[in-house]
Amino acid sequence: MAEHERDVVSPDADLDERALEGALRPKRLEDFVGQERVREQLSLVLRGAQRRGRAPDHVLMSGGPGLGKTTLAMIIAAELGAPLRITSGPAIERSGDLAAVLSTLQEGEVLFLDEIHRMARPAEEMLYVAMEDFRVDVVVGKGPGATAIPLDIAPFTLVGATTRAGLLPAPLRDRFGFTAHMDFYRADELELILRRSAGLLAADLDDDAAAEIAGRSRGTPRIANRLLRRVRDYADVRGDGRLTLDIARSALSLYEVDVQGLDRLDRAVLDALLRRFRGGPVGLSTLAVSVGEEPETVEVVAEPFLVRSGFIARTPRGRVATPEAWAHMGLTAPPDAAFGAGAPADGAAAPAAGP
Ligand SMILES: Nc1ncnc2c1ncn2[C@@H]1O[C@H](COP(=O)(O)OP(=O)(O)OP(=O)(O)O)[C@@H](O)[C@H]1O
Ligand SMILES: [Mg+2]
Repeated sequence: MAEHERDVVSPDADLDERALEGALRPKRLEDFVGQERVREQLSLVLRGAQRRGRAPDHVLMSGGPGLGKTTLAMIIAAELGAPLRITSGPAIERSGDLAAVLSTLQEGEVLFLDEIHRMARPAEEMLYVAMEDFRVDVVVGKGPGATAIPLDIAPFTLVGATTRAGLLPAPLRDRFGFTAHMDFYRADELELILRRSAGLLAADLDDDAAAEIAGRSRGTPRIANRLLRRVRDYADVRGDGRLTLDIARSALSLYEVDVQGLDRLDRAVLDALLRRFRGGPVGLSTLAVSVGEEPETVEVVAEPFLVRSGFIARTPRGRVATPEAWAHMGLTAPPDAAFGAGAPADGAAAPAAGP
């Protein structure tokens, strides 16, 4: 399996898909499904600011791809009735790029800075001052004769998004008044999202089919919406257009997305770990070779979800399959498997506590 097709359950989206997603984005906070705590906190921040007639605190959103950061940024602007300016970290290569954006903001405007962790370092300093004092220092001239001219800018609200909050320098993180941590969604929340999307797409989605798709969507709305489109295609071509449970199951098995949302690569990794290495422990590169992939592919593409789902544990001695992995793959663990009766007493193979 040299080339693996990752598009069906990848949390990332290409440009075409992003265009499709626009139509499915909820526009108001009340239509945003799930993330209850974030929604409630944010609603207070926004209402409080509106009451005082001031721009709200800067908001940082952190969370994996496809969990709704861009959606929420747009909702913030809509709820405030404020204009929205969109830019991204990679677009800000020099501090001048940022100065150009900041100095042309209107009062109360929402500036969405996506992938904020990828912004150029020199621009960060400028952003600190802008966030705190609504001022930019424009440098005029070069060398020893250069001077900084302070320029007042309109009060604005920065909405930053990052998939890697850990990469943000502390001074930047500290300047956000509110941080929204976006979590993976529960299956019942994904079901709601799917029903809402089906309505917008005029697709006739049965409740049990919605539950089936939700369960395979890896806690991610983007994946849920994508699987919905695949099932709809299948229903249109092979069925009578109705998205029933049977149609959903057939479509998803055709795309090799199993009941837990594992795809072909995930299952190949598990299969090798269980059958060839008796559940481990086994080193990453050995495991990768046995499925014909680069170690990095296994580590970056397959492993995070397998670990998050509790099928694989990373231990100091290598990767180990959990009892859930044996059960999910329909195999029986040998008595000496790492998680069988003879599990090491030192607990070295205990499953990781968190994701
Ligand atoms: N809470 C939600 N309710 C309904 N739909 C959602 C929700 N969150 C995300 N979606 C849908 O999932 C898709 C992806 O969401 P979005 O683009 O906001 O993710 P993102 O976090 O910005 O991803 P990335 O990190 O790749 O930019 C969109 O089509 C959006 O409509
Ligand atoms: Mg986004």
